[in-house]
Order: sequence, then C-alpha cells, then structure tokens
Amino acid sequence: MIDKITLPLLHLIDPEKAHDLTIKVLRYGLFTRLHDKPVRSLTQSICGLQFPNPVGLAAGFDKNAETMDAMLGFNFGFVEIGTVTPLPQEGNEKPRVFRDKGSKHVINRMGFPNLGADYFEGNYQDFRQSGENFNGIVGINVGKNKDQDDDLADYVDLVHRFGKQADYLTVNISSPNTPGLRDLQNPENLLPFLKQLVIVRNARCKTPLFVKFAPDLDDDQAIAIAQCVKKAGVDGVVLTNTTLERPSILPKSFASQTGGLSGPALQNKSNYLISLFYKETGGKLPIIGVGGVNSATAAYDKIKAGASLVQLYTALIYQGPSVVKKINNGLIELLEKDGYSNISQAIGKDAK
Ligand SMILES: Cc1cc2nc3c(=O)[nH]c(=O)nc-3n(C[C@H](O)[C@H](O)[C@H](O)COP(=O)(O)O)c2cc1C
Repeated sequence: MIDKITLPLLHLIDPEKAHDLTIKVLRYGLFTRLHDKPVRSLTQSICGLQFPNPVGLAAGFDKNAETMDAMLGFNFGFVEIGTVTPLPQEGNEKPRVFRDKGSKHVINRMGFPNLGADYFEGNYQDFRQSGENFNGIVGINVGKNKDQDDDLADYVDLVHRFGKQADYLTVNISSPNTPGLRDLQNPENLLPFLKQLVIVRNARCKTPLFVKFAPDLDDDQAIAIAQCVKKAGVDGVVLTNTTLERPSILPKSFASQTGGLSGPALQNKSNYLISLFYKETGGKLPIIGVGGVNSATAAYDKIKAGASLVQLYTALIYQGPSVVKKINNGLIELLEKDGYSNISQAIGKDAK
C-alpha cells in the first residue's frame, strides 16, 4: 500500500535526491519496526549466525549506517551496510545514478560517497544499543578511499576497526567506480591481499570475512579467484557487484551512461558465477548471491545455483520494501512444492 503511493512520487524526482529523502524518512520516520516471526523452513545457521530468512539488503543502500532498524523491520533477514571508507569522501560528480523505468535497471557511478568511518561507527553503536531490532544480523562492507595509494592499508584499518563489532565483514574490491579497484581481483594481487586480511582478522576476532566480486570475469579468472579464496581462508563470497556490460535491450541514452549496471540483466551472469564458485569450492564456501533478485523465483534460482543467502537493491527501487515479504512468502511455497522442509536442502541443486 505504502509502495503504491510513495514509489510513483519518488520516481518523479532525481534518483539520488529520492534516495536521500528515503534515507531520512527511514531514519527518523515512525514505522512499526518489528519484523514478522521467522518461519522454520527459511531459517539457517551460516558461519555461526542464525539467519531468520535468506533475503538481505545489498550494500550501497545504507552507506552511513542510518537505516538498519527500519530495514530489518521490513523483514530483511540481514542487512549489509556501507561501503564505508576510513575518511569521508564526496564520490563522483553528480548526476551519478540513472534509472531506466522501462527495463527496471539502474546505472550508478557513485564512487563510494560516504561520511567516513567515525560517523558510521557512531550510528552503528547507537543502533546496537537502542534499535528495536538491535539483535538483527548486520554485515559491514568496507572499501578504500579514492586517494589512498596503498591498496591494503584502508582494508586493514577497517577490518581491525569493525572486526569485533560487525556480524560479518565484506571486503569490496569490485566496485567499477573507484579507479584500479577491480585490479585487486587479479589472482597475483588477490592471494597476498586476502592472506593479509585474514591474518589481521584472526589477530582481532573470529568474525566471518566475505569478499565481494564483479560479474565481469571469464571462467579462467573466476576459477583462479575461487582457488585464491580457498587458499587464503576467507569465510565466504558475495557474488556479484554491478556489471560494465550493456545488454542490447537497454535504451541507448541510458546504456551510454558510464558506471555499473544493476537489475534483471545481472541475473544470469551472477547465477553462472555462483554455480561456478559452488562447484570449485565443493559447496563448502557460503555464497551470498546478488544481482537482479526481484521475485521469489529469481531468489530461488540463485539458491539452487549455490547461494546460501541472497541480497537485493535495485528491486527495492522499483517495487519498494514490500518486495521482501513477497519473496519470502514465495520461497516458502517453492520449497514446499519441491518437497524441502528447509531452504538449506535446495542450495546448489542446479549447480551442474
Ligand atoms: C545506487 C547503487 C549503489 C551501490 N553501492 C554499492 C556499494 O557502495 N558497495 C557495494 O558493495 N555494492 C554497491 N552496489 C551494488 C549492489 O550492492 C549489488 O551488488 C548490485 O546492485 C546488484 O544487485 P541488484 O541487481 O539487486 O541491485 C550499489 C548498487 C547501486 C544500484
């Protein structure tokens, strides 16, 4: 109901202004912030965390840790906040977010605008002390400042800083909008980089460490990355970030914008990588599947490809927060239809 009234209005204004307004309303607005009771077939324990359902909020929506309480109240099973960088930064020049309503895609070239780790940490601690959903699962997604020349330093800083506070950490090396960032995915850079972060994490805490990768990888690159991830001893992967590809179905004026594309066009690309990683790691490494999740079927496809959990962002822009409950209810039905009593039984069933 709220979605039917607010979404058309929000879509009349500039995408980033609409987002900023949404964040303010979610932070200070009066919502019923208590989520529904978990349904047994959707609950799972992954990396020692008890997930009430598998549908999470993807990184980038809440860059400054301002809306965890409200988003968990919309029945997300977990939320990933950030990307946060050590120092505040402006990001790229505006406009830098573009919608294509017809095909329900988004292109963004934000470049990690955020208010920095001090502000983020204050908000996060307030939530843990006073949010109605203070026990909800929150992952912290970390990145590096644009002006930082040392590839490792900011990640070490943030893993150390948030290691003890987060439920899980995601190391984001796959944004296409920070120059050179994706080079960290090259296996010769990746293995020493990840090994170092695992050492830093181990010295501090046992918090699960995830790494988020891009969808624009060929099979050889993806296999080499999966090997690095195993060797380094990270706990899981997030697949995937936005793509640089532009499918022909997109209108030319939209497709010509620089940045990362998100939405339905990512479904097959990310599902393909999910099943490749699932096979390469023998199904032992938890995968958070993200990219074009906009329905229960799309979420279920990711789970059957090998994802233990899924996340979404673009579907929230086009369908509003009711999409979360819709997907969870649909998943309950799909599991029942396939004769599974718990979602964990469906993971990887389509990974051939
Ligand atoms: C406007 C926007 C900003 C984003 N910012 C980030 C970010 O800061 N960090 C990150 O890891 N991913 C970021 N993402 C990528 C999403 O987390 C997700 O990986 C991607 O959008 C694919 O999912 P979707 O198709 O459900 O949107 C952003 C996506 C969008 C649309």
